[in-house]
Amino acid sequence: MQLSEYELGKKLFAFIKAKKSGFNPFKLDWYKNFLLSLSLKNPELQTQMFRFVDVLPSLKSQEEINRYLVEYLNQANSSLAELASFTSSLPFTGNLSEQVINFSVETMAKTFIGGSNISEAQKKINSLEKKKQKFTLDILGELVVSSSEAEEYYNTYLELIEKIPNLSISIKLSALCPQIHELDFDYKKSILKPRLETIYRAAMAKGAQINVDTEHYAWKDFTFDLLKEVLMQDEFKNWNSAGIVVQAYLKDSRKDLTDWISWAKQRETPIKIRLVKGAYWDYEHAHAMQKNWQCPVFENKPETDINYEECTEILLENYQYVYPAIASHNVRSLVHSIVYSERYNIPREKYEIQMLYGMLDELKDYFSDEGFNLRVYLPYGELIPGMSYLVRRLLENTANDSFLRQGFMDGRSEDELLVDPRDSLRHKEWTPEPEAGIVGFVNAADIDYSKSQNRDRQLEAIERLEAELDSETLYPIFYGEKESHNDNCFESVNPAKPKQILGQFSHATIEDCDKAIVAAQLAFSAWNKISPADRSSVLKQAAYELEARRMEFTSILVLESGKPWHDSDAEVSEAIDFLNYYALNAEEMFTTNKLASFPGERNTNLYQPYGVSLVISPWNFPLAIMTGMTVASLVCGNAVIVKPSSQTCLVAYKMLELLRGCLPREFKPLVSFMPGEGRVIGDYLTRHDDIRLIAFTGSNATGMRINDICQAARPTKKFIAEMGGKNAIIVDESADLDEAIPGVIYSAFGYAGQKCSACSRLILVDAVYDHFIARFTEAMKEVQVGDPRDINTYMGPQIDLNAQMSIEKYIKIGHEEAKALIDNIEIPKDGYFISPTVFVDVDENSTIAQEEIFGPVLAVIRAKDLDDAIRVANNSAYGLTGALYSRSPENINKTIREFNTGNLYINRSSTGAVVSRQAFGGMKNSSIGFKAGGPNYLLQFVLEKTITENTMRRGFVE
Ligand code: FDA
Repeated sequence: MQLSEYELGKKLFAFIKAKKSGFNPFKLDWYKNFLLSLSLKNPELQTQMFRFVDVLPSLKSQEEINRYLVEYLNQANSSLAELASFTSSLPFTGNLSEQVINFSVETMAKTFIGGSNISEAQKKINSLEKKKQKFTLDILGELVVSSSEAEEYYNTYLELIEKIPNLSISIKLSALCPQIHELDFDYKKSILKPRLETIYRAAMAKGAQINVDTEHYAWKDFTFDLLKEVLMQDEFKNWNSAGIVVQAYLKDSRKDLTDWISWAKQRETPIKIRLVKGAYWDYEHAHAMQKNWQCPVFENKPETDINYEECTEILLENYQYVYPAIASHNVRSLVHSIVYSERYNIPREKYEIQMLYGMLDELKDYFSDEGFNLRVYLPYGELIPGMSYLVRRLLENTANDSFLRQGFMDGRSEDELLVDPRDSLRHKEWTPEPEAGIVGFVNAADIDYSKSQNRDRQLEAIERLEAELDSETLYPIFYGEKESHNDNCFESVNPAKPKQILGQFSHATIEDCDKAIVAAQLAFSAWNKISPADRSSVLKQAAYELEARRMEFTSILVLESGKPWHDSDAEVSEAIDFLNYYALNAEEMFTTNKLASFPGERNTNLYQPYGVSLVISPWNFPLAIMTGMTVASLVCGNAVIVKPSSQTCLVAYKMLELLRGCLPREFKPLVSFMPGEGRVIGDYLTRHDDIRLIAFTGSNATGMRINDICQAARPTKKFIAEMGGKNAIIVDESADLDEAIPGVIYSAFGYAGQKCSACSRLILVDAVYDHFIARFTEAMKEVQVGDPRDINTYMGPQIDLNAQMSIEKYIKIGHEEAKALIDNIEIPKDGYFISPTVFVDVDENSTIAQEEIFGPVLAVIRAKDLDDAIRVANNSAYGLTGALYSRSPENINKTIREFNTGNLYINRSSTGAVVSRQAFGGMKNSSIGFKAGGPNYLLQFVLEKTITENTMRRGFVE
């Protein structure tokens, strides 16, 4: 008689209970249970223990292990004594920390990992086979940083296929291609396609099965397209031992599954489809929230469970075309698949149940004893590359929603665990919820270029722009209600192809400046009187229009500033954010009275604008920084004369034109576009008596000169400035180099080192120096320099010939002062390109370690230890950004306390500040004023006035 899901579920639970015989240290899963019990009692301790587990394999001595354990316990406000109380049920005596730690490394590895080498794994395979359980091998490791590391994985896969007869192996594409090429789809394909073909070919020859695991969402479409293309080739079309994975936590999964089935029907040879829920839920959810993207995963656990069951049904119904593999440890999910297959008489040999090694082993025996096809996913390898896998398993065992936690630690009843997920569904809409910040503000979402339709749209936008641009077009200067031109012109060019002229601009004259100021003053007198909400609405409208034209603006940035796609797109987002953030910030600032009042005394603080302001904007963020400074001033009631950088006038013109379009006719003179030479109109405007406020971003030399002018003026002028840096990244001995190496490369060479936040000093503590340099040298070989018009370009050109020559001068000095590690990466012949250059063993006081170079030149400095590294980092006239890569809580805290820098990033790159999240600005010679994109920035664009009114009249208190 056919059992229901409930009845079969009860039977499985009874089997598990009979097999489980309480704690057994020799089964070596005590550590798993230990962590489970920790997580139940103290979630904060759990987090810290996972972090400890993550860093553990990289620690080199017992002393280090003890130190880190105590540090992590302190982070969780716990102590060794508290830890001991959790472990009281365990058979330990003596020095707890030593025993726990020594034993745990080995034990944890053995719990989830089938061995550190192939012969250990082979023993596990033999014992599985004795129980009639199949296996699929997984070599631990993912996310490689260089081609040589990828090559190693590739060779290991081939070697295993060659050596082990009838092997089944699960491979990860991310292990076969360095992570720096994440968005470089052509390159990824050029590397991965031939590798996959060779692996498949070897597998065909040796009778092996190859399963390609599915990883992060950003890889999914690419992976599926590539597999379909390769497997449809004549050579592989009839081969039936290829497998893929569909993740049921993805909202796309049902469509993916049906697409695979249609594809398999067309191919006429089955493919194995492993259905999993998905192992990266926390990451995908957090990543989408941070990016303000549609969340790709379901947000309710029951939704995933329901989708899993529905996908199971689709898979099983199509067993003639695909070979289903149901991979889960959730008893309800598993019994659903069995009951469904029996209801429809699907033979047991037509599908497979799959489980992970070390997870719910008792149940595996049931399935193999009962004659089901059971396959165990068996990872093996060293613990350091396997850490991500281990942490995923620990998370899976301890997450609140996990079946294993609920079933075996939280003590949920069997009835609750076997309930149909449809009965426990509660719908929840996803909206990003920042924990603090301005109410109602949401960051603009960057474009997700992992989607091929977005890449196509962006390329079309670039092509459209190129077709529209005419090198003869003379763009007007505008001020007042007028547009004007003159014959004294200059060109805006593409720095990657200087022969490509994007347009012509006239040099504004002194006479233009005078007229602009008069017109601006007139408009200011009315603008300053309208409500803050009305002023804000202009910014909101501009944000809306910029979002609608996002791809056009990204294209202009790509062509005019030489910035790669994703950096250009992020800059458009930043400009939109400035508009929305300052709009909301101003409404709040102008309407909130923060002064105390008393009976009979009313106190009010009012903000009033300065008048006509001058914005001098840079070429490196010609859209975002210019927009930010301009609209901050405008929304506070000022008029703004913008003098953009000459190299990037096109984007400035287009943006200011858009902004003027949002202003009512009478207010258009509030925004003037005054391109021209700094030493002519820049100087004139800076000194002009009617310019009361100057917002500047640019070089330190120019900034300091303007500062002197402002201080000498009577009355003095308000001056706000962002002026560069000599930013340092510190890497200590506990750092995760898989993260640190790409992070340093992006910080130093993203946008060719032309961000003021770019890393130009890398400070490595002695203990990690040689190892870091060895891996970093290999990883640097992956940096591709080229035209940013191509999405695959990692690093584009310098902005112009002057910049190129100045950087070359510094490189020459670098060769005299230090040893070049990297200086010969190939660069295009035309355009203002510089080969990314790294000097090692640099003296901390040398020119290249002290002066701002503003290009792709990195000075690597050796420090004795963290104290020394912080001292070196602070040995600079600048203090803009900095970063630390470390997994030591103490080192992180120390660096937070002692590294004098305006923006400090921990375990991430030093560039890419986001409005309202990383308010941006520095210390020392880097900045004057409050941080851009932060809560205090607007205060600098107003004068503060305090009104105190005696409200008492003849003893009558209002
Ligand atoms: P359970 O029923 O407890 O489900 C846990 C899962 O639910 C989480 O992992 C997550 O997917 C989802 N979830 C958690 N919280 C949620 C929430 N709030 N809202 C919505 N969903 C939520 N994974 C992968 O990504 N790629 C792969 O290639 C493989 N390969 C693989 C092979 C084999 C043989 C197995 C057994 C497993 C994998 N996995 C995998 C891992 C797999 O994704 C993971 O083990 C399962 O998600 C755990 O699901 P269960 O059904 O076992 O547990």
